[in-house]
Amino acid sequence: MIITIDGPAAAGKGTLAAKLSAKYKYAYFDTGMVYRAVGLEMYLRNLDTADEKAALKIAKTLTFEKMMELSAHPDFRSQIGGRNASIVSAYPDVRAALLKMQQDFSENPVFADGTPAQGAIYDGRDTGTVVCPEADIKLFITASSEVRAERRYKEFVAKGMDVAYEEVLADVKARDERDANRSAAPMKPAEDAVVFDTSTLNIEEVFAKACEIIDAEIDKEKR
Ligand code: C5P
Repeated sequence: MIITIDGPAAAGKGTLAAKLSAKYKYAYFDTGMVYRAVGLEMYLRNLDTADEKAALKIAKTLTFEKMMELSAHPDFRSQIGGRNASIVSAYPDVRAALLKMQQDFSENPVFADGTPAQGAIYDGRDTGTVVCPEADIKLFITASSEVRAERRYKEFVAKGMDVAYEEVLADVKARDERDANRSAAPMKPAEDAVVFDTSTLNIEEVFAKACEIIDAEIDKEKR
């Protein structure tokens, strides 16, 4: 079973994916990590994210293990980490270089400890359209930019980071703009995706609806 969850930053994809992964025991791939890893590696090596060739070089040599190692760095999920990821993810060659690693996971989904899983849940921007166009279930989760900025702001504050709400909102809008308008794999719901707006639905409601869809698919596969 392959499930994709796409949508803009801070829409609730990660929360939903974690809940579904716990309930159905499917492995989870947060695909934003591949771009965060490339962006962070450039930052740590003092490379300018405007340098597309340097970004491509790093993307071509990125391994799953290296990505996991970088994910422990404090800037992996910081404002700067998100911004750098967003910039490098707009380069078509960088996306192409990171595609196989993402697709391979669906062939052999494993949990963080290496245990094999019966299915995979992807979260990202293009997982239902480009990474796994043949996925069994495709969800697209969205919310207004203000609601999403508020959530991200609270997350940063809870981690003790010093940020202003206005700065987070401006960043969310800039990332949406880049994600939706880039030439390669622009963010959009797949034609066969079910769309949820978490500005009006809470995460429990979205979770319940997603479970209904997944249970129906599991029943269908059993028949
Ligand atoms: O989801 P997350 O915020 O961790 O993603 C970091 C950045 O990576 C996003 O702003 C987006 O530009 C990019 N991304 C992407 N395609 C994906 C996942 C993330 O372009 N499938």
